Amino acid sequence: MEKKILITGGAGFIGSHVVRLFVNKYPQYHIFNLDKLTYAGNLENLRDIEDKPNYSFIRADIQDNDAIMKLFVLHRFDGVIHLAAESHVDRSISNPLEFVMTNVVGTVNLLNAARFIWKGNFEDKRFYHISTDEVYGSLGSIGLFTEETPYEPHSPYSASKASSDHFVRAYHDTYGLPTVISNCSNNYGAYQFPEKLIPLCINNIRFNLTLPVYGKGENIRDWLWVEDHAAAIDLIFHRAPNGETYNIGGNNEWKNIDLIRLLCRIMDRKLERPSGTSEKLIAFVKDRAGHDLRYAIDSSKLQEQLGWKPSVTFEEGLEKTIDWYLSNPEWLAHVTSGEYQKYYEEQYIKR
Ligand code: NAD
Ligand code: DAU
Repeated sequence: MEKKILITGGAGFIGSHVVRLFVNKYPQYHIFNLDKLTYAGNLENLRDIEDKPNYSFIRADIQDNDAIMKLFVLHRFDGVIHLAAESHVDRSISNPLEFVMTNVVGTVNLLNAARFIWKGNFEDKRFYHISTDEVYGSLGSIGLFTEETPYEPHSPYSASKASSDHFVRAYHDTYGLPTVISNCSNNYGAYQFPEKLIPLCINNIRFNLTLPVYGKGENIRDWLWVEDHAAAIDLIFHRAPNGETYNIGGNNEWKNIDLIRLLCRIMDRKLERPSGTSEKLIAFVKDRAGHDLRYAIDSSKLQEQLGWKPSVTFEEGLEKTIDWYLSNPEWLAHVTSGEYQKYYEEQYIKR
């Protein structure tokens, strides 16, 4: 094998798309997917590639410094693509410490292990940290986040991601570690845990459950199809200069209430319900504490320097996404019932 690449958080939503892309596109790499399998980790996301010869799964917790160091010494990874994180803002409001432990301490454990095994010999090595646009805080009605926007996180989630970004830069500046960071906007697509807005709405509409809109639904997010994020990660991993940061976004801003109404209209059509049926499920509920008003990304640096651009329009991406959830009711049923958590034992322990 030409390279050993460690992808953390590969059983999660975005990580599973990145693992699939790398395993299929780079048979000359061995891809190690390291994941703790928290509630958000689902190995059923990777059924189609799990038997490929260039793929291995490692169950481990990035909070566990000894375990991480041993794995780096054993496998001597050439590159790290770090996605493992606690990722849901609402959960960070109820349990901030878990976000500090995984997102901050876990990231520092990985940085230390990479530094230890690479020992100053950084040729062809790379530590790529996947971050979020939420580190920049909230925009007013105009303007876009650029790579120069000062950090101003508001939620425990975004504060933990901002802190981890600072550590990654500090390891580059202090020890010369060959790092790169990208900050992406809201992703949507197949395999997303239905606690996040789009899969939650799709699932609730299917079962005629309430669609909870926080506050007045005026908050704005910039939505990107997850496979376009994975393609950007591939480009950045291979082509970005060390120490750089890239913003990734869809140039696709939607007010939450408008997006939810759009989802209702598409779902009425797909489920052959009279138009207006699903909108009746909308319920305005108490706002999220510290709810950021607007995120919007300027991705021109990535587009101009590395030639990336989104491959689908929002209409195409949403159609693909909704079709995927409707044609994978078993995946959704396993996720909502908790059945998916047995998959690791059945697939990896009992065999
Ligand atoms: P996710 O919650 O779907 O997946 C996270 C994965 O990390 C899960 O498989 C989980 O089991 C694993 N994990 C959690 N704690 C761990 C630990 N201590 N040790 C090892 N593994 C652990 O998240 P996602 O939405 O796929 O996000 C992936 C990354 O991308 C995160 O770093 C997130 O901050 C970032 N991001 C997400 C979005 C988005 O819209 N979802 C946008 C920008 C950036
Ligand atoms: O911007 C990137 C971030 O996008 C990522 O870093 C996070 O990991 C990811 O979870 C996402 O964060 P958001 O908080 O923007 O995503 P979420 O899907 O939770 O919410 C999207 C918007 O919809 C937000 O304004 C809150 C609102 N919302 C969400 C839920 C779950 C509702 O109105 N009702 C809901 O039930």
